[in-house]
Amino acid sequence: MPVPTVTWEGGLDGRLRIIDQTLLPGEVRIVTCDSVEAVWDAITRLKVRGAPAIGIAAAMGVVVGVRDVPPQAPEAELFAKLAEVADYLATSRPTAVNLFWALDRMKARAAALRGQGTARILNALCREAKAVRDEDAAMCRAIGRHGAPLVPDGGGVLTHCNAGGLATADYGTALAVLYSAHEQGKRFKVYADETRPLLQGARLTVWELMQNGIDVTLLCDNMAAQVMKEGRVQMVVVGADRIAANGDTANKIGTYGVAILAREHGVPFYVAAPSSTFDFSLPDGSGIPIEQRSGDEVAEGFGRRTAPVGCKVYNPAFDVTPAKYIAGIITERGVITTPTPDRVAEHFRA
Ligand code: MRU
Repeated sequence: MPVPTVTWEGGLDGRLRIIDQTLLPGEVRIVTCDSVEAVWDAITRLKVRGAPAIGIAAAMGVVVGVRDVPPQAPEAELFAKLAEVADYLATSRPTAVNLFWALDRMKARAAALRGQGTARILNALCREAKAVRDEDAAMCRAIGRHGAPLVPDGGGVLTHCNAGGLATADYGTALAVLYSAHEQGKRFKVYADETRPLLQGARLTVWELMQNGIDVTLLCDNMAAQVMKEGRVQMVVVGADRIAANGDTANKIGTYGVAILAREHGVPFYVAAPSSTFDFSLPDGSGIPIEQRSGDEVAEGFGRRTAPVGCKVYNPAFDVTPAKYIAGIITERGVITTPTPDRVAEHFRA
């Protein structure tokens, strides 16, 4: 990435810094989140967004929220604060499981050190949050390596929303596959759905692919069928916010429609995601909570009214693509081809 998406500068008294993605592509502004409320707000308003990046911000948000507990205070005070901060951050967005995964990981780290004193636990939490970031960066690279062979040399690839460096520690998931193929010298064209209503495709995916010298063409979401019919697309690759144990995948609203179009046109539809995006507590996608966002994002996006005042609006932020439409899920461990409950379980057992 030309600029880091979410970073921790320094030690326990350091700073959580993010790119404010609501301002892209017009302005690259790095902001500091110096309170847990600021972290919650940044996640809720999508200043930091994309499932892995939300998880990293939440882990670092825990550090921001608990570090004022005095190092000489009894551990019970720290554990009470940790529970309060984690519960609060858990209300910021419901769909990306990486948020809850990261909060659970931070709580587990503290619990493992119970009895060693508040100061040690605080420092360990800071190191753990940095590890969440660093491990995500490594997983993105591995996803890229596993996915690159699937990219059609000389062909076209369609993606939806932003599953790039801006959505992760670095390099992305779906876009990692493309970056890696590009580094290997493959030539291909990317078609990026603009991704209504918040335009993550237009504002973020097109921006970061252009910054990295990849041939990208912007499409309105309703053009994907025509582009596939014209034979311009030989692969679809998207990210994920939560993947159930059978491979059903929640991702940005509109992804399900793209998967159906891909099936109709004989184009393989791939999902790229790290293990932290899998939710094995859910047997299938029917239990994935779908975030509902303000109707203003649809009727008055980016400050301009585009529908009658007072009109009713429905604005689910995600949908669930059934596993039967997915040719493969690319993880840091390899590719789960035509996912089934057994294949997903085997992939993670191996
Ligand atoms: O609402 P957003 O912008 O957070 O939605 C993001 C997506 O749907 C991404 O595709 C997903 O989180 C994967 S990011 C690697």
